[in-house]
Amino acid sequence: MPSDEDPILRARGLGKTYPNAAAPAVAALDLDVRRGEFFTLLGPSGCGKTTTLRMIAGLERPDAGRIALAGETLSESTRNSFVPPHKRDIAMVFQSYAIWPHMTVFQNVVFPLEGERGLDAATRRRRGMAALEQVGLAALADRGATLLSGGQQQRVALARAIVREAKLLLLDEPLSNLDAALREQMRTELKDLQRRIGTTSIYVTHDQEEALSLSDRIAVLRDGVLADLGTPEELYLRPRDAFTAAFIGRTRFLPCRVVARDDAGALVETEFGAVRCAAAAPDGTVQLMVRPEHILLGPPSADAPNRFAGTVEDVSFAGRTVAYAVRVGSTRLDVLAMSVAMRAPGDAVSVELPPDRCVLLPG
Ligand SMILES: Nc1ncnc2c1ncn2[C@@H]1O[C@H](COP(=O)(O)OP(=O)(O)O)[C@@H](O)[C@H]1O
Ligand SMILES: [Mg+2]
Repeated sequence: MPSDEDPILRARGLGKTYPNAAAPAVAALDLDVRRGEFFTLLGPSGCGKTTTLRMIAGLERPDAGRIALAGETLSESTRNSFVPPHKRDIAMVFQSYAIWPHMTVFQNVVFPLEGERGLDAATRRRRGMAALEQVGLAALADRGATLLSGGQQQRVALARAIVREAKLLLLDEPLSNLDAALREQMRTELKDLQRRIGTTSIYVTHDQEEALSLSDRIAVLRDGVLADLGTPEELYLRPRDAFTAAFIGRTRFLPCRVVARDDAGALVETEFGAVRCAAAAPDGTVQLMVRPEHILLGPPSADAPNRFAGTVEDVSFAGRTVAYAVRVGSTRLDVLAMSVAMRAPGDAVSVELPPDRCVLLPG
């Protein structure tokens, strides 16, 4: 569990522009990662996640800003100070596992310990086996590394990172080469492993579900800039802007006008009626965000707050869930429901927008 201590990793004003690039890959980035935290950098491809991670690892030299780990400066561009990667107490798992085929599983895992002076064979053996134990591969220690499945290679790459017992673990899309089912299984294993060993981790992914299920906190990056930061629940339920809201889940934005603000939140007027929102409205023009799975379908009566009469127009059955398009006034709302009660096109229904799940965003 993360603690309230000073952040173990602190980045201030971090920036990087590649030669001949039109725009910075990363700009003015501030990050505070807490001790023991599982911290994720999330964003679409090209938003600067890998560049950020590589600057923390020392594989890329920032051209602006400062990075400190446990109070020790790793790089500071104004002073031209830069600690090389092998002198940083940081381990990294790359997207390509980079496993050496001519070595055994064990040899792959203890390879990073080569550089540690004064480490006797018994200690190497103990740490290597402990790391393999952690990822459930102890039985395969002496197997050739080529004879491994994708999931096993992934575990070897993880073991090779945790064997260092470094202060910080960096993971760059480590599950992206696995098929969907294995990815989900490894996600669970990875989360258990991180909780068990408690190493502060910075995880990079473009997969919002992965980010939501793994992370203590998520930083959303957009075009090299920090767009939002918060716990999975904060970002999903109360995003600060439309970019985060749309990137981190499916959603609908509805035009609306604020008619009242009070201690309980705000009342907005939409095309199909007045909607009460439990959170405050930002200044200026706003739009109403409601996620499809937060809209409740009910029997056709509309005599409750935030409940409106509608007609089912489209039904898309996906087994566990059913996606509906429901006409309310002249608006078509997407509603995602569990498949417990089925509706058919033409059915009269009511839709209810829970005030707690109505978010007002700058629009
Ligand atoms: N070595 C490089 N040389 C030039 N441009 C690069 C290099 N690496 C990344 N970029 C560019 O920097 C931006 C950020 O890339 P990257 O950090 O890899 O993003 P992400 O990991 O989020 O996909 C992109 O526009 C990418 O094309
Ligand atoms: Mg990347």
